[in-house]
Amino acid sequence: MMDRVNFTQMKDGTKAEYDFLTKHETEHTKGTADRLLKALVDLDEGLSGYQITRLGHSLQSATRAHRDGADIDWVVSTLLHDIGDIYAPYNHDEYAATILRPFVREQCSWCVQTHGDFQMIYYGHHVGGNPDKRDAHKGHIYFDDCATFCERWDQSSFDPDYDTLPIEFFTPIVHEVFARTPYDPDVIKPGIRAPLTR
Ligand SMILES: [Fe+2]
Ligand SMILES: [Fe+2]
Repeated sequence: MMDRVNFTQMKDGTKAEYDFLTKHETEHTKGTADRLLKALVDLDEGLSGYQITRLGHSLQSATRAHRDGADIDWVVSTLLHDIGDIYAPYNHDEYAATILRPFVREQCSWCVQTHGDFQMIYYGHHVGGNPDKRDAHKGHIYFDDCATFCERWDQSSFDPDYDTLPIEFFTPIVHEVFARTPYDPDVIKPGIRAPLTR
């Protein structure tokens, strides 16, 4: 029974070794949801100055999405939309979208990917940025969805007095989403727009 491969260069690996590694990788991917939830908790230590932590903001955003009646793809995407703040402060939106893209509807990963540009409308003028940065996406099928995402769930979720749901509430749906078959066309549903509110 192999417990590790013999090769020191990938090009020397055998079929049996790669079969063995594939099995390991499949086991490892089963832990993705738990690793992401742990990373979300780590967000609690980042970025001070706001009235709530990034974890608090993430949970509050997802709580608002849930209470608006948004579906599981929206709620999980909203929960994780700022997870890139840990390692990618200059492109945190793209970082989060990359994590989500194989597992959620294209509509949701697109909005996560571009939310940084759309958020500028609320504060760009205070920081020397371009408040109209989102205009670069004008005409895109998901433009209005991202505008609504930012208005209702993202920019609004810095309220320490809001009745925010705990992370445990979201744990099962994070597991459900990351247990999906990656890039399943029935999940990605290119061009399909599910409502943000019901
Ligand atoms: Fe963000
Ligand atoms: Fe945010």
